[in-house]
Amino acid sequence: MKLRTQAAPDHLHNPVAIVGAGPAGLMLSHLLHLQGVESVVLEKQSRSEVESTVRAGILEQGTIDLLRKTGVGERLDREAEIDEGISVSIAGDSHRIDFAKYTGKQVAVYPQHEVLIDLIAQRLSDDGEIWFNTEVTAIDDHETDNPKVHYQAADGTSGVLSADFVIGADGSKSLTRKLITGAGGLRMKHEYPFAWFGIMVNAPQTAPELIYATHPAGFALISTRSEHVQRYYLQCDPEDTPDMWSDERIWEQLHLRADSDAVTVSEGEITDKAVLCFRSAVTDPMQRGRLFIAGDAAHTVPPTGAKCLNLAMADICALAPRLAHAVKKSDTSALDDYSKLALPRVWKTQHFSSWMSSMLHSVPGADQMSTQFQTNRRLAELSTVVTTDAGRQLLAQQYVGWDFPSIDSF
Ligand code: PHB
Repeated sequence: MKLRTQAAPDHLHNPVAIVGAGPAGLMLSHLLHLQGVESVVLEKQSRSEVESTVRAGILEQGTIDLLRKTGVGERLDREAEIDEGISVSIAGDSHRIDFAKYTGKQVAVYPQHEVLIDLIAQRLSDDGEIWFNTEVTAIDDHETDNPKVHYQAADGTSGVLSADFVIGADGSKSLTRKLITGAGGLRMKHEYPFAWFGIMVNAPQTAPELIYATHPAGFALISTRSEHVQRYYLQCDPEDTPDMWSDERIWEQLHLRADSDAVTVSEGEITDKAVLCFRSAVTDPMQRGRLFIAGDAAHTVPPTGAKCLNLAMADICALAPRLAHAVKKSDTSALDDYSKLALPRVWKTQHFSSWMSSMLHSVPGADQMSTQFQTNRRLAELSTVVTTDAGRQLLAQQYVGWDFPSIDSF
């Protein structure tokens, strides 16, 4: 097994250079390998940082199918909890959304870092190149046939990699995206007046399925990591810091917002506290010359519905077969469709994450009657969705996710 943690000699040439070893970068490298195309992944963090960073944990049916089909679903099948529905609780009144009934599909509760552990293990056992601790400092010539990637390793060595194509999968603070937005690409954004305070807890599972709870005091989400480790979120102010949330306040608010006749939030030792910001952003186009961006580098969705990783995987299903064809046949025409193909799904997912967020969160305002109007309208919308077949089906369909682009043909 080859584990590169250091940069290679200068001016190496590769068909594909991938910036970032997150879901998009690693899955792309894996799919290209299955098509006989090799790549180098450059990642500024260490392997252990990548494998331990806490992120969301819901895999759409399309992601589950992709992992299984491409030989990286074995541990998922052994360890992940498979859910066929969620509960939506409105001030303690619980409504189940049955995914199996409305869509015939399921979701898996399997945290992002577990997917990354599986993909890294697979790439390394396939002799794939992942250069950890290697930061990309600049990219140039991406509007020619021979782009260059400048990098610097943690040990101080630096170099230049030349490639036929460069893929920016370098997350929401992406350097690669700036080469697109700096050359006239659009970056459309939306901010939300709330955030999530997330905790990790050593406690038994509260309920067999996730609970999305709305309450006059704010939103709460009851999610899980394993039989003994739970993930809970509370709506908070975007300016909040973890020290403003004592354990006592956390438990009081979780019980207030999420307990119901059927469920009492299970308590335990809190091992992690963090504030997660809410933001939406889309970059259009997702290509400039021979540079393509994917995943969070291209778009950010708010965390409600846990779509980030799934959207990254769908981008890669659109990109990988076209990129493999371009490398093998020296024909880039199909690659020019990438943005057009990926963006409609990005917008549908933006809509879903933003719709779920707006239906579930309370927004305080200065004018009391106007705030009350907004709250009552919001609750009427949520009630329409969770108490009608048409509404439940619409929510279920989007939660389990749209079909992925085919990785076999285009
Ligand atoms: C999570 O478990 O982190 C999670 C689950 C569902 C969401 C968001 C986050 O909608």
